[in-house]
Amino acid sequence: MARKIIIDTDPGQDDAVAILLALASPEALEVLGITAVAGNVPLSLTQRNARIVCELAGRRDIRVFAGCEKPLAHALVTAEHVHGKTGLDGIDLPEPTMPLQEMHGVDFIIETLRTEPADTVTLCPLGPLTNIATAFRTAPDIIPKVQEIVLMGGAYFEVGNITPAAEFNIYVDPEAAEIVFKSGVPLTVMPLDVTHKVLTTRPRIEAIRAIGSSVAHAVAQWTDFFERFDMEKYGHDGAPLHDPCVIAHLINPGLFSGRHINVEIETMSELTRGMTVADWWGVTKRPKNAHFMGDVDADGFYDLLTERLARL
Ligand code: BDR
Ligand code: CA
Repeated sequence: MARKIIIDTDPGQDDAVAILLALASPEALEVLGITAVAGNVPLSLTQRNARIVCELAGRRDIRVFAGCEKPLAHALVTAEHVHGKTGLDGIDLPEPTMPLQEMHGVDFIIETLRTEPADTVTLCPLGPLTNIATAFRTAPDIIPKVQEIVLMGGAYFEVGNITPAAEFNIYVDPEAAEIVFKSGVPLTVMPLDVTHKVLTTRPRIEAIRAIGSSVAHAVAQWTDFFERFDMEKYGHDGAPLHDPCVIAHLINPGLFSGRHINVEIETMSELTRGMTVADWWGVTKRPKNAHFMGDVDADGFYDLLTERLARL
């Protein structure tokens, strides 16, 4: 039976690829809904972009909800320098015509977890954790009902990408991340340590482009757009494709390896705000709260992604 998921996202080209990977895998994943959050670009664009991606995949039936428009305690920080003005720069796609759902994204998360049997819904956050934390604060009764949270965020060995100490998703809303990491829900974390290993090298992107569909063309155009920034920054052969790691882990966890460790979120320090303080070496007795991934079979990841995109 397909695993039920809610994708919580701030598209973002890599979020878009993650959504496509999920929609291409119906035997493994049932997407109950997509909740947009402010992150890479403001909410007005992330909810629009989520609908553009659903329409690109021919899935106007997927329900898209708008969630929180700003982090819990700080002003929103966005990432147009990576993703472009729209968040989906790289190709011009039609404005979406499928409706945005009226219900608030946080209410959708709460209602779904209250309605579905316990331990049957997995949350997949691909952006700042504002929606998830707000749902947990508003309705603590849903926390024990969550099957698992598989999220993209944080870093240990790679340290940071938006500041020297912090990864973007956690940095934008560290107070929300703290609520999620302390919630007691089983957590699987895809940090930069993993996502920096799934690089969009030329052969990998050309294999996707060669599929020849409009979906494959869009993915190739998106990666061409954002990789210019990351290649210059890191000097690698391609750019990291962060968020699809979450979905790939749900489809084939064997592609990834990591450790069950304690991870705390720094919320106080000006210098290291949003840092994921990961006890990778087990030097404290703090309780283990996260499966923190450290390695990935990158070729296996791209084989999976290419095979699935060819279905759309
Ligand atoms: C994360 O930040 C965003 O720019 C990406 O979409 C990804 O979720 C990587 O740090
Ligand atoms: Ca994202």
